[in-house]
Amino acid sequence: MGKTHSMLKRIAHLQERALSRLSQVGSLEALNDWRIEFLGKKSDLVTIQKRIRELPVEERPSVGAHSNRARKTLEEALENRKGELDKLRLDPLLQERIDVTLPGWAVGMGSLHPSTQVLREIQSIFAEMGFQVFDGPEIETDSYNFELLNMPANHPARDMWDTLYISDTVLLRTHTSPGQIRAMKAFCPEPIRVILPGKCYRYEAITSRSEVMFHQVEGLAVGKNITMADLKGVLIEFGRKMFGPKREIRFRCSHFPFTEPSVEVDMDCLVCGGSGCSVCKQTGWVEILGAGMVHPKVLENGGYAPEIFSGFAFGMGPERIFMLKHGIDDIRLFFRNDLRFLGQFE
Ligand code: PHE
Repeated sequence: MGKTHSMLKRIAHLQERALSRLSQVGSLEALNDWRIEFLGKKSDLVTIQKRIRELPVEERPSVGAHSNRARKTLEEALENRKGELDKLRLDPLLQERIDVTLPGWAVGMGSLHPSTQVLREIQSIFAEMGFQVFDGPEIETDSYNFELLNMPANHPARDMWDTLYISDTVLLRTHTSPGQIRAMKAFCPEPIRVILPGKCYRYEAITSRSEVMFHQVEGLAVGKNITMADLKGVLIEFGRKMFGPKREIRFRCSHFPFTEPSVEVDMDCLVCGGSGCSVCKQTGWVEILGAGMVHPKVLENGGYAPEIFSGFAFGMGPERIFMLKHGIDDIRLFFRNDLRFLGQFE
């Protein structure tokens, strides 16, 4: 009787242990291990069943029945657990676990493009001097881009701007100067003090010094008694605000069909301080912009009587300004979208 009793106890105990272990099984592989351990040929249950023979004949049926029931219980539990694990495997929502206490992912911050940065800087310097921003279209007519700027058809000066034509009369503006005419037509007969920032396009081979698309900032002032001294004052102020208070500015005679007289404006070389280096091609000076007094014909084309009104205009390349300021020697870097370059100017 003692042996039977202990066998029944072992069966009950075994079943309890097997079920509690089963609740911890988390994968189909672990489930198979569990099956081998508790229901396999070498499991305790099988050992017990084999030893039923050793019992007195009249006690065998009760132990046999208990062990069979235990086996059935474990087999059913196995099937249930398998079903649960299958469901878990197929349902990603049940499989996912989110630990809400983990630190979050840092979101990468973007930054302003260098061209945008320098455009804003230029705008704010001129805003302090009372210039407002005036916008013109990138797609222009031949008339605004050339003719009204004192360059009739076949004028040789047109060769200064290699042009992308859309049709015989429509083109992509090669400079922001057509905005001068648009501003004059919009303001006439009031005095004007505007800058015109925007994109320009040229049909050029792309090199470290030239791109097919780049920005310009045009400046225009029209009024009574505006002289070249005003132009010089404004540009010197700009140069020093942009590049530092010690900068020297030089005005050199030049020619543009829409200004008379025309100048090109140089600044002492930032890199060598004027003693000569490769950036300034040993001259000690670097060109920063073109400018001049608005040509009487251009004033007239904008609606202003040149006997009463005068004005000055200038045009600069913000990418070039940025390159000088940061010692960059290749304009192509601006439009390649290489984050290693762009990220340096956050
Ligand atoms: N538009 C000229 C250029 O693209 C620059 C300029 C503007 C010169 C205004 C004089 C006055 O080169």
